[in-house]
Amino acid sequence: MGTGSAAPEKILTNFDLEKLVDTSDEWIRVRTGIERRHIADDKTTSATMAFEAAQKALKDAGIKPKAIDHILIATVTPDMPFPATACIVQERLGATKAAAMDLNAGCSGFIYALSLADALIRSGNGENILAIGVETLSKITDWTDRNTCVLFGDGAGAAVVTPTEEKEKGLIATYTQSDGSMGRLLMLPGGGSRNPTSLHTVEQRMHFVKMNGHDLFRPAILSMVEAAVSVLEKAHLSSEQIDLLIPHQANLRIIDAVAKKLKLPREKVYVNLDEYGNTSAASIPIALDEAKRKGLVKTDDLVLMVAFGAGLTWGAALLRV
Ligand code: ACO
Repeated sequence: MGTGSAAPEKILTNFDLEKLVDTSDEWIRVRTGIERRHIADDKTTSATMAFEAAQKALKDAGIKPKAIDHILIATVTPDMPFPATACIVQERLGATKAAAMDLNAGCSGFIYALSLADALIRSGNGENILAIGVETLSKITDWTDRNTCVLFGDGAGAAVVTPTEEKEKGLIATYTQSDGSMGRLLMLPGGGSRNPTSLHTVEQRMHFVKMNGHDLFRPAILSMVEAAVSVLEKAHLSSEQIDLLIPHQANLRIIDAVAKKLKLPREKVYVNLDEYGNTSAASIPIALDEAKRKGLVKTDDLVLMVAFGAGLTWGAALLRV
């Protein structure tokens, strides 16, 4: 699986945030594990970062843009509601054969994209699928709300999913789930058909993320564990066989709790949220690409990716490298 990632150059540290809201580096580090995050400038959008990550992934896979059959972009921060950010990237890449669409499954979006890519390939509807997770969360963050603004960051990760001759290689199994009854815990209430953008929605700051992090904490752990166990069951594998766990990077305490329940030692868990914060749909593909480049993912390794996010949604994917 060819991979690539991109993140804006600008860094915002916890100490920078101390100047914006009533918070401290210590609170953010101890409660979340985050130390800095990458923040987009005015010219950087989800499409520009997705394009950069996609170019790197295609190079890594040795595949030309014209050979791509589908572009799937998981994001809650598209360049605009429509056209799809995937179509903007399709044009920039010159991927003239590709169908392109965005999908919104919150932080689980990249897992959903992998699951769809796998299904498209298995059903004979494409051979080279470009799956991208990208977010520009800084542009929907309320920089006066300490409950959320310390958590999020921007970035993109991409993967080229292709068929494999070897039965036990590549994407072995995927698992996706949702529960809309808890959707109110994490939302962006303004700008859609329920609350179309108006002076009122802007005054009420409805164009920014609203999150009840406290009530999400437990469901996040339970659902990630459920997804991990379910995908392992589907593949008739056990957690001892996992070489690397790549969890959604929302909170170090959530990651540690998930790893503990799966009986995985810390050295088998990839963590980079100290550097990026929570980049939602981009967090897993950025981590996968980094882990590969650091040599932490070797041939025949079993990688478990597991996510949880807005919707609520959750899911997991098992990859044999
Ligand atoms: N700085 C200082 N104090 C703060 C901050 C801050 N940035 N934020 C909150 N606090 C305060 C609260 O006001 C509260 O004060 P009080 O006790 O006087 O009322 C206290 O800290 C504790 O607040 P909690 O919300 O209980 O803190 P908690 O330990 O739960 O940590 C956090 C909050 C980090 C948000 C955690 O709950 C979390 O990570 N939740 C899960 C988030 C998540 O997974 N979201 C889904 C994925 S995100 C996505 O899909 C985009």
